[in-house]
Amino acid sequence: MRLTINGRSQDVEVPPRCTLLHLLREDLHLTGTKEGCGIGTCGACTVLVDGKAVLSCLLLAVQAGGRSVETIEAAGAGPDPLLDAFIKHDAFQCGFCTPGQIMALRGLFQRDPRASAEEIRRAVEGNVCRCGAHLRIQAAALDVAAPSGGSIPE
Ligand code: FES
Ligand code: FES
Repeated sequence: MRLTINGRSQDVEVPPRCTLLHLLREDLHLTGTKEGCGIGTCGACTVLVDGKAVLSCLLLAVQAGGRSVETIEAAGAGPDPLLDAFIKHDAFQCGFCTPGQIMALRGLFQRDPRASAEEIRRAVEGNVCRCGAHLRIQAAALDVAAPSGGSIPE
């Protein structure tokens, strides 16, 4: 099948039960996308499919056929205010959840660059951070949405 990955059209051969996560990591070596739980509960594997955040461990690769997939490698390819804000706010510790957090927020900001604190919270509510950086992640995102100020409500 053919699909677009990070702006590049690619032909791939995948068995019917192969997940999009497996295709990305194992076949295409795009290892920025992480596998946490593998069963749709942690958000570590979040990528964008046609601009929408999806859990790539739950999506069959064939379901992405003909569609446009964006991974953390696309976010890391150029200057990105969200990445800068993560660094500024120290919004990670081990970094394992970070690609998923960033892709969930990237999807939100592509739809609404001025998303509210509540929308930010909802965008990453399925992304678990075992290091407990949730508030700093939300602060970083709010910095991008409202650079002139704003705070995450308690
Ligand atoms: S690895 Fe996909 S949700 Fe956890
Ligand atoms: S930074 Fe370690 S799990 Fe989020």
